[in-house]
Amino acid sequence: MYSDGEAGAGSPVLLNPGPAGTSERVKNALLRGDLCHREPEFSELLNRLRAALPRALEFPETYESVLITGSGTAAMEMAVTGSVRAGREILVLSNGVYGERLLAIARAHGITAHEVAPDGDQLERWTTPIDPTWVESALAAYPEVDAVVCVHHETTTGLINPVRAIGEIVARHRALFVVDAISSTGNEELDLADVGIDILCGTANKGLHGLPGISFLLCGPAGVARIAEAPMRGLYNNAAIHLAGQRRCEVPFTPAVQICYALDEALAEYTERGGRRARVALYRERAAVVRAGFDRLGLKILVDPPHRANSVSTLRLPERVTYPRLHDELAKRGYIIYAGQGGLAAGHFRICTFGEIPFERLEALEFALGAALLAARD
Ligand SMILES: Cc1ncc(COP(=O)(O)O)c(C=O)c1O
Repeated sequence: MYSDGEAGAGSPVLLNPGPAGTSERVKNALLRGDLCHREPEFSELLNRLRAALPRALEFPETYESVLITGSGTAAMEMAVTGSVRAGREILVLSNGVYGERLLAIARAHGITAHEVAPDGDQLERWTTPIDPTWVESALAAYPEVDAVVCVHHETTTGLINPVRAIGEIVARHRALFVVDAISSTGNEELDLADVGIDILCGTANKGLHGLPGISFLLCGPAGVARIAEAPMRGLYNNAAIHLAGQRRCEVPFTPAVQICYALDEALAEYTERGGRRARVALYRERAAVVRAGFDRLGLKILVDPPHRANSVSTLRLPERVTYPRLHDELAKRGYIIYAGQGGLAAGHFRICTFGEIPFERLEALEFALGAALLAARD
């Protein structure tokens, strides 16, 4: 069995969707020491990370990384603002909190944004994958659309959108394809390198097992070209400024140096442990273990099996169990779970399996969850 995770017996296991638990090696990277980001050692680190990201994720060498100090939302903002030319529009595919956030980012920057979303109430909208034919119709209806942006794995529910089929339609319409893969980069089944993504948003601290504080874009040639054409929309989260600096082996603003060290170690570990295929297999195995336990406990997963991510399960709360009670009972037993979002908060909770988790603690989850459900019942 894949041996992973070094959370000691006394440390809580994080079953939230990030920041994810990290290995001792990644945590210890913070102690590499102080470093000025204007010194050649930082340039070397930056170059190593920029090259390692597409390599680890098996993207072609034509993809360039743009690193940013900031959480995943910084990468989303950099991607949205950098992908639409002046006077052109964006199409946002939205079936969860993160699709809605992409729409809010576009509108905050005054970019005309059209939304494609499933019909129905919030529960229906958030549990229905985006149908590629809706994208085809919207692109025909809005010829000024310059970029289509989609969340691959909607962490709101644990739902995977069909980005490959959507990408084919976007390419046919000659629009740019931007994908928020923040909770799927390097850990979900689909080989994203195969999808025709022009700009991908990722983060250090979910499937890559780095620390929070650094996120990134992976840009194909069309993405790089578009970033150069997009007007100046903001300064800190500006992809053109970061890309131009990083091509000169510099960063425009003070970076989170020690978090870069941690990402360096996390990527080395990722590769040494067998790379993308091994990480995907690990997450698949984790999903099988925890979901067999959910089944035996009678817990129902919200998203239908064909659309389920391996890393996030949204579960219905049983009768007479509230989330705060269940959270606290599980915390007492060494597991940190996560609430449902939006309208799902009252009746659902989430169990996620990102990051370093000792396998035996995952196998022991069923027993702890069963006991916590009993103790939490009013
Ligand atoms: C799919 C997706 N996009 C974007 C984000 C935003 O990332 P952050 O909270 O790091 O800003 C998240 C966070 O969970 C996410 O899951």
